[in-house]
Amino acid sequence: MKNILEAPFLIEMVRTCTNMYQHGWDERNGGNISVLLNEADVAEYVDVRADTVDRVIPTGFEAPALDGKYFLVTGTGKYFKNVQYAPEVNLGLVRLINGGKVAQLLWGFTDGGKFTSEFPAHMMSHAARLTVDPENRVVMHCHPANLLAMTYVHDLGSRVFTRTLWQMCTECIVVFPDGVNVLPWMLCGTNEIGIATAEQMNTARLVVWSQHGIYGAGKDLDETFGLIETAEKAAEIYMKIAHLPLKNTITDEQMHLLEGRFGVRAREGYLE
Ligand code: 13P
Ligand code: ZN
Repeated sequence: MKNILEAPFLIEMVRTCTNMYQHGWDERNGGNISVLLNEADVAEYVDVRADTVDRVIPTGFEAPALDGKYFLVTGTGKYFKNVQYAPEVNLGLVRLINGGKVAQLLWGFTDGGKFTSEFPAHMMSHAARLTVDPENRVVMHCHPANLLAMTYVHDLGSRVFTRTLWQMCTECIVVFPDGVNVLPWMLCGTNEIGIATAEQMNTARLVVWSQHGIYGAGKDLDETFGLIETAEKAAEIYMKIAHLPLKNTITDEQMHLLEGRFGVRAREGYLE
């Protein structure tokens, strides 16, 4: 068995947690990440036979589409800041069984901890995104300050919120042509917010939780980080200019030029 601390998927996870912390997106235990792994990759580093499972943890929901699938996931109450110093405590590798009702712990959470309290939103989002894009492997949640701030002062309709973000940086529409879906404030850590988030994930890879944070989904950690980074940059510009008289913007006509230049299609009905 190879050393899991040297696995590319683990190294990338640790680096991403550190980077997100350094961006100020994950204060204290804020934020969580889950990465879908292939059994063949996992089997190089941990014993995947059922009788060697460390612990079994009920999930409190069902996700039949994810039965038998492996996820590397951040722990509840764990600080992103600390992941790099003790990955085996702050991260866990689980396999879902019994239609997603149970998670088998194969590695990690060595202090007796468990997966993030947002596991329902993560797993339900994975299931939703996999139906749209079989390559989707990552769900990422964090609390970037400008996106959060924007949900206090901007209308929360998904179309109007998306249009504002697109107008803040030229390349936003290229990076997230499917836009950003916005949920109203809801109680976090519940199956209900998980179901609502997953539903929004059917039409966009970014879902804002008003007055809380954002969810991103993508094919790898880099891409998903970049998606949130781009939306957060746009929100930062908005928060810099929202109180000033607006003299210029990116017009819908210019956005259509961007669609042509970069070969993307803006979400249906979002441009004039
Ligand atoms: P966890 O510590 O359970 O991952 O929760 C952090 C968070 O951001 C809740 O939304
Ligand atoms: Zn959160």
